[in-house]
Amino acid sequence: MTDVSPIRSYISGFLKPFIPTATASFLLFAPGAASFAAEPEASPSSEIHRIADIFAPLSRPAELLLEPTYLVLLICLGIFIVVMGVLVYVLIKFRPRGPEDHLEEPPQVYGSYNIEMAWTVIPCLIVFVLVLVSARSIVEIQDQPMPEDALKIRLIGHQWWWEVQYPDLGIITANEIHVPVSSKNGPPRPTHIILESADVIHSFWVPQLAGKTDLVPNRVNHTWIEPFKTGVFLGNCAEYCGTQHANMLLRVIVQTPEDFQKWVENQKQLPSEPKDAIAIQGKKDFYDLSCVSCHKIDSTPAEGVFGPDLTKFAIRQTLGAGVAANTAENLHAWLVDPDALKPGCYMPDMKLSPQQLDSLVAYLQTLK
Ligand code: CUA
Repeated sequence: MTDVSPIRSYISGFLKPFIPTATASFLLFAPGAASFAAEPEASPSSEIHRIADIFAPLSRPAELLLEPTYLVLLICLGIFIVVMGVLVYVLIKFRPRGPEDHLEEPPQVYGSYNIEMAWTVIPCLIVFVLVLVSARSIVEIQDQPMPEDALKIRLIGHQWWWEVQYPDLGIITANEIHVPVSSKNGPPRPTHIILESADVIHSFWVPQLAGKTDLVPNRVNHTWIEPFKTGVFLGNCAEYCGTQHANMLLRVIVQTPEDFQKWVENQKQLPSEPKDAIAIQGKKDFYDLSCVSCHKIDSTPAEGVFGPDLTKFAIRQTLGAGVAANTAENLHAWLVDPDALKPGCYMPDMKLSPQQLDSLVAYLQTLK
């Protein structure tokens, strides 16, 4: 794979003065990914790449998209300049010059072969170039062969959260994808993501890692990422999927291979039994209440699959698919009334007593 082709450096040089504006306006349309309320403590490997910036790709497929993006922007900029230039010229040259000016009809032109050919052929050629450029990028990204040992993830969209399965590792989690970092010089370590939906159409989008790919019911789509930097990458659902579409946020946590392996080992182990009296009570409450009909906790009677798997809930950085940081306080607020944090979400208000709230929070925080 080539790094920086001549056309890319030429175009990026030309467009450089415009990029800050373009990035700024882009951010206006990705507020979900760019803003998070409270954050858990950050350590160097958990640096949060907060800016959902397609002009700063940090993964191979996102890099492959950059060149066609610049080219399309350049062509559109050219069209904009020509159209606006002609418009301004006409407005000035043919402006009314006196009170009687508008009484006279301008000369009417019919059937001009030259003009009609020009406005048919030129746009056709432009669209044809855009089609070729897009098709080339699509083929280049979609047909990328994955190594035999590539990490495989099955990502299932739900209203309004992400189910994350690692079929080869026997791990199920939610809303946070852990992957190992790759390197440009060493052996490639791409992650193959299989996209499915449990209900309506969603769309996977982590701007710095890969372009958008839809998750369509009764269909299996594929994408892949190959991040070159560790840290937390923010993404979001990019296809309107109902009331809480804006709060269907996704985190990709890119780790060193060693840290990723540690995470895998931890995920494979069962959470330790609660020791405090209050957490023990919380575990009992969890099974006595109807939490079990929607949530799963490995090796317990909780077998529900309608909501996220909670086996290792306490390790996750956020709750409610990124709606708040995963702290005791926010968890308490979430259990009091999920609808207050995430209006319209399908987790019901269980009308818990203050004692039940405290014990459930204590129990859920032991799940790590
Ligand atoms: Cu899922 Cu929008």
